[in-house]
Amino acid sequence: MPSFAALTPVPADPILGLTELFVADPRPEKVSLASGVYVDETGRTPILEVVREAESRILLAQTTKVYKPIAGDPAYTTVVRALVLGADHPAIGEGRVETLHAPGGTGALRVAADLAHRIRPDATVWLSTPTWPNHPQVFSAAGLATRQYPYLGEDGALDIDGLLGALEDAASGDLVCLHACCHNPTGIDPTPDQWRRIADVVARRDLLPLVDFAYQGFGDGLAEDRAGLLILMERARELLIASSFSKNFALYDERVGALTQVTADADSAKTLLSHAKQVIRANYSNPPAHGGEIVATVFADPELRARWEGEVATMRGRIASNRRALVDGLREAGAPGDHDGLFRQRGMFSLLGLSNEQVQRLRDEFAIYVVGAGRVNVAGITQANLGPVCRALAAVMREPAAVA
Ligand code: LMR
Repeated sequence: MPSFAALTPVPADPILGLTELFVADPRPEKVSLASGVYVDETGRTPILEVVREAESRILLAQTTKVYKPIAGDPAYTTVVRALVLGADHPAIGEGRVETLHAPGGTGALRVAADLAHRIRPDATVWLSTPTWPNHPQVFSAAGLATRQYPYLGEDGALDIDGLLGALEDAASGDLVCLHACCHNPTGIDPTPDQWRRIADVVARRDLLPLVDFAYQGFGDGLAEDRAGLLILMERARELLIASSFSKNFALYDERVGALTQVTADADSAKTLLSHAKQVIRANYSNPPAHGGEIVATVFADPELRARWEGEVATMRGRIASNRRALVDGLREAGAPGDHDGLFRQRGMFSLLGLSNEQVQRLRDEFAIYVVGAGRVNVAGITQANLGPVCRALAAVMREPAAVA
């Protein structure tokens, strides 16, 4: 008889599992630079001021808790697609775009994966090496095969030739997962010219881009960060885009994201939407309300929206100055090597290229938590932890084999 007792445990999640270990760690000096969560100079992850304002308006005006539509409230989904693509993108006017409210960027990826499996069950999803550790398991859970394309070169820059070469081997109809901006975990994004070359191979090989857009506004700006996506759309008529307000609205625990579907024509937009709604109904029925209402409320009021854009700019500026402080701090602490390459990186993360042993030693000896390969959440650095973090990093970089 099958029994739960026959199960053996699986490994903890490579990112959120570290948060559990961190919370349980009794050492007062502990620092978490693991999960991608923004903290301010005091080490807190604040609720944005515009979010507090929107929430109080929602509470006052709310009269019901009735279900949202399966695809989400149009007051939310229309502002999302305008933010993701730009309000005046021709595909919107042509009726080729449908946006569905999903529980977080991860929920959107899972809906996209289920949808892809329904339409192209034999398709492979191509993932960058490295990529967000949750990508492979989201796609595998939906029954899709995954393969990898090279991403990071030896010199710390994008390995564009490796990437393009791998995609030349992809079969027609395969999916290619691309990070719109602020690549997780490397922080390295394609240049406009490289995006054009990627778009060419996507179009020529008839691949379906699945764009993960979790960090809009954390790279160069809300509009600037969609530049690569827009280049891709010049060649690709069909795309799936998973976006999230976890980071740029700091709505981590509200699970508020969206799947934006771009199709070749308006009729197929409606057909694909009907499939997506069936996928959602079978998964979680309809989306959670609160986070989407916050976003819709902020976007409906030009004054709140302008303040939100200011708050995003503040977070982006702080992350950029943290990255500079990290480079300077590593130099001052005598860390071997040249860390100026970190300036090429965008968004929350920097990848320091540490071994498993170095990552483990950071945790065991210094109570500093980073993700595998030395992915550091730059947004988690403060004046208070900068010195200890840089000294610990310098120590493990100087003696990489100390705990071998
Ligand atoms: C991260 O990469 O740390 C974030 O996207 C949080 C998560 O869900 O893994």
